Amino acid sequence: MAKDTGKDTISVTDNVTGKTIELPIYHGTHGPGAVDIRAFFKEFGYVTFDPGFVSTAACRSSITYIDGDKGQLMYRGYPIEQLAEKSSFLEVAYLMLHGELPKREQQNEFLGNITRHTMINESLKSFYEGFYHDAHPMAIMVGVVGSLSAFYHDSTDIRNPEHREIAAHRLIAKMPTIAGACYKHSIGEPFVYPRNKLSYCGNLLNMMFSVPCEEYEVDPVAERALDMIFILHADHEQNASTSTIRLAGSSAANPFACVASGIAALWGPAHGGANEAVLHMLDQIGDVKNIPKFLEKAKDKDDPFRLMGFGHRIYKNFDPRATLIRKMCHEVLAKLGDENDPLFELALRLEEIALQDDYFKERKLYPNVDFYSGIIYKVLGIPTNMFTVMFAIARTVGWVSQWMEMIGDPEQRIARPRQLYEGAAKRDYIDINKR
Ligand code: SDX
Repeated sequence: MAKDTGKDTISVTDNVTGKTIELPIYHGTHGPGAVDIRAFFKEFGYVTFDPGFVSTAACRSSITYIDGDKGQLMYRGYPIEQLAEKSSFLEVAYLMLHGELPKREQQNEFLGNITRHTMINESLKSFYEGFYHDAHPMAIMVGVVGSLSAFYHDSTDIRNPEHREIAAHRLIAKMPTIAGACYKHSIGEPFVYPRNKLSYCGNLLNMMFSVPCEEYEVDPVAERALDMIFILHADHEQNASTSTIRLAGSSAANPFACVASGIAALWGPAHGGANEAVLHMLDQIGDVKNIPKFLEKAKDKDDPFRLMGFGHRIYKNFDPRATLIRKMCHEVLAKLGDENDPLFELALRLEEIALQDDYFKERKLYPNVDFYSGIIYKVLGIPTNMFTVMFAIARTVGWVSQWMEMIGDPEQRIARPRQLYEGAAKRDYIDINKR
């Protein structure tokens, strides 16, 4: 944790009463300092107002840092570009959970732990039967992940570090198995069990695409592409779903229930659901000649249409993940798809035209992580309604890491935001005969 000097303060004066107080400013390793406003309500009697938490830090964290102006992202200090090129998703998972890159024996032990927890309780299979085949996989994920706490009473004491660690391993390990079963249920094929000799992403591909009557070979290009995409999606500071996990966890809810709440928040098209929405949008646009019409719709305040995959609360430059995924699109399409994939061509032209448009330039709206990821998922044969499930598998690493950090933070207490009440003034009940 960065050393807070305690010397730097900001003076705040209430011009109504003339009272002035000094609030401490904390400085982290990178990024903006933070003004501690915890004394504000006690000293002034006002609450602070910040819908959407645009300028509010809810916690200290040492896991991920984003420089939105420079378009930089780092996990535990390592730039995302270096991790994407040189690391693996499970090595990044270890880094995120423990704060340091693993030594070889630590890596092997971690891989062993994850591998040993990939199976799910057999009785969960009947849970899937309760869903129609056309149930959205994210709806199934919320339900099945939330139900895991019904099976693991031995690891829900959040004050026990061993319970916290095994719950983290179980969640990271089981997400691909649960996701694979979602997909198999949706297409009426038998579930495929995990196979310990396969890699994390190889297992996921096998559980989604292998069938009992044929041999299935994991394609190394697809395996590597998925592993890198998962690295890029692993964590992202206090985004909406991570903040949901922290808020749920602040009530001492068990980690399985917390991750289920994060999956629910991620599903929104303004957040992790955007990757699926981008593909629907590109299908809706259909042809390059229609791009101007849709850009006008995106700018029209009276039109709910937004350019999905564009814009970001923090990035006011390129999302570095979008840059890496765009580059990977070319490679994957060259090896597994059609380099002239019309969808990719349309996305490239849409990006080019939007970035020349004043509306997008003035608001610093650039492509984000979701703009290109769907195109790669499509080439890998992953159906559109499973795109956000892919995001959830990867983000589970960030969610459990942030949850662990929160539980261990001495400053954390139950999250309970205040409000500015604008409802009816106090009044007496009126009998129905007199209304
Ligand atoms: C993710 O937080 C994270 O880190 C999230 C994430 C992660 O890894 O966890 O990065 C993953 O969720 C990426 C974002 C995926 N969502 C989308 O692609 C949906 C489309 N984007 C927008 O909905 C929007 O840009 C948000 C939700 C991403 C950001 O919303 P903000 O920060 O609240 O920004 P805003 O809505 O206040 O926009 C500022 C202006 C507004 O116009 P004005 O009122 O100033 O005139 O920009 C406009 C908005 O109308 N705007 C858009 C736009 N995004 C913002 N206009 C058209 N199309 C868009 N996509």
